[in-house]
Amino acid sequence: MSVEIRPWELMRFSAEIYRGAFRVGSHGWLVSVARPLYAPFHLIYPWIPQGSHVLDIGCGTGAFLLLAQRVRKLGPSVGYDVNEASIRLARAAGKNAGARFEVGAEIPDEALSSASVVTLIDVLHHLQPGSRQALLEQIVGRMAPGARLIVKDLDPRPHWRATANRVTDFLSTRSRVDYLALETLADYVGSQHFEISLREPLPRQVWAHYLMVADKHGGAREERN
Ligand SMILES: C[S@@+](CC[C@H](N)C(=O)[O-])C[C@H]1O[C@@H](n2cnc3c(N)ncnc32)[C@H](O)[C@@H]1O
Repeated sequence: MSVEIRPWELMRFSAEIYRGAFRVGSHGWLVSVARPLYAPFHLIYPWIPQGSHVLDIGCGTGAFLLLAQRVRKLGPSVGYDVNEASIRLARAAGKNAGARFEVGAEIPDEALSSASVVTLIDVLHHLQPGSRQALLEQIVGRMAPGARLIVKDLDPRPHWRATANRVTDFLSTRSRVDYLALETLADYVGSQHFEISLREPLPRQVWAHYLMVADKHGGAREERN
């Protein structure tokens, strides 16, 4: 899968998207404009087909979804997050973008079944194991046949990188995290009527990122392949 766009270009688009939006919320430049520099968004966008209807769970300030709108020309798309301040900023930045942002920890089944791509970008490690498993079960159970699940997260291995992950997460969110290994995630999703198209560690600087792309069996996407 080719890399179509560079982190610096994404950051330039982000700066345009968030121009004038910061006065609305308390969240900063780092988790919005600078986000593509330290999270490998540029390696994820090529996996989102043009015109997709994206459901971005745990969208934060909308950095990933708003850039996806810009570089993948999405259809109607929606982001959910539990953090009201983040959603206020996402709405302010995205008011002309055609994406909707909602506050909430509960994802409606209808939002899952109507999405052609579901994304979880650095969200799973912020959930406790019980609620993480419940969310994953809802996602794999409710996504439409042929829809694509994209998960970018951080690996608990190797240990030294996991320590770097933990320190960064604590400094940026003041929360303790629980990492779900790529292997465990891909084995579970692969056992739930999904074909794993990509399961790849993406070590960057000191962090242990990974990317998993999985397509639900059935539907138009499978017929095309
Ligand atoms: C590290 S941030 C990632 C934000 C965004 N996905 C990005 O990549 O820029 C993790 C996000 O997950 C959100 N989150 C945590 N638990 C959640 C839940 N149960 N439902 C929805 N969002 C949640 C947090 O509020 C936070 O915005």
